[in-house]
Amino acid sequence: MTTSLNAAEVEVLHWWTSGGEAKSIQELKRLLAAQGHKWRDFAVGGGGGDQALEALRKRVEEGRPPAAAQIKGPSIQAWGKRGALANLDDVASEQRWDVQLPSAVAELMKYQGHYVAVPVNVHRVNWLWISRDALQKVSGRSPQSWEEFFSLGDRLRKAGIVPLAHGNQPWQNFTTFEIVVLGVGGPDFYRKALIQLDPTAIKSDTMLKAISTFRRLKGYTDAGANDRDWNRATSMVIKGEAAMQFMGDWAKGEFLAAGQKPLKDFYCASAPGTSRAFIFNIDSFAMFRLQDPKAVEAQKAMARAVMSPEFQSIFNLNKGSIPVATAVNLDNFDHCAQESSAYFVATSMIHALVPSVAHKMAISSAQQAAVQNAVHTIWNKDEASNEDGVGLLLAAAKVPAD
Ligand code: GAL
Repeated sequence: MTTSLNAAEVEVLHWWTSGGEAKSIQELKRLLAAQGHKWRDFAVGGGGGDQALEALRKRVEEGRPPAAAQIKGPSIQAWGKRGALANLDDVASEQRWDVQLPSAVAELMKYQGHYVAVPVNVHRVNWLWISRDALQKVSGRSPQSWEEFFSLGDRLRKAGIVPLAHGNQPWQNFTTFEIVVLGVGGPDFYRKALIQLDPTAIKSDTMLKAISTFRRLKGYTDAGANDRDWNRATSMVIKGEAAMQFMGDWAKGEFLAAGQKPLKDFYCASAPGTSRAFIFNIDSFAMFRLQDPKAVEAQKAMARAVMSPEFQSIFNLNKGSIPVATAVNLDNFDHCAQESSAYFVATSMIHALVPSVAHKMAISSAQQAAVQNAVHTIWNKDEASNEDGVGLLLAAAKVPAD
């Protein structure tokens, strides 16, 4: 335990403000407090991180970066390039991160071969969350195909239940869209269309089918979806007001925080057409370069805490994700997490493990924002045709990487 002489404050930027998220981050605060360090919360809500990352940019421009910020995927490299990040190699070698992490994850956390960020978890994005009550009311089963989804939706609607809980925010629309692209086109198509932004894939019939399936979903949402936060949508499923939600497994954190249990109260099902694939979203904290040696120590203490088996276990039990450190025991985890972990390994062997584009794991932030805007317009512009949607995506695909 660090003595209070070395204690310092660690300011952490994150967007974990929902019930399940707040419970999860609480564990990190607790571990740091146990070492005598003080947590300074820099929470910017909004889900998906768009607002939080805007706030981060401002702070760095002002020359006042936080100690740590929730940054992921290619953005870690972008911040590394700007010379803004601290070197965590000593903590990494002390805790043998190179051995503890899958090598693809370790590479994401490094800039020019040096660790600059620490990973927290692995979320699976392509889930469909289903209220057991709602499903029973229409004697339904979890849909295996998009057609089954729509016919179940029709029955739910007749029974007075909102079939699909959703919030019409750009990142929620994009999350649903990437799930549909995977479900309709499969992992190779997903890579070509959304990661390589290949015009031929974007102009294909498969993309037209994905766009029409995506737009058809809107008819199964309710009028209150505009600007609804994702956790409020989850809460509709928790209460049985809505039957289903497409969302990464941070949604499970909300069910658990509300005292619900998988199989008893809700189901986690692979989204239609995606049972043999996995969209991954890995949360991580990048550490900013600081001057004060005490602050640097506190920052390292945080990195060390994040990779400790205790944190990897307790955090992910609350968050709905699985530990990213491979040696952590999953015996206490529920079957959704066990499945996620098995799929993570199995899909990587069949080349069906793909990074989330909506959650900033795959393409540059300028490109991500452009595609996200296009998807948001496709969802909202009812008078446009599916071909117009293709045009919007093609234009977004031309935006240069930043
Ligand atoms: C994601 C993040 C998840 C979850 C979600 C909703 O971008 O990776 O951990 O918190 O946003 O806030």
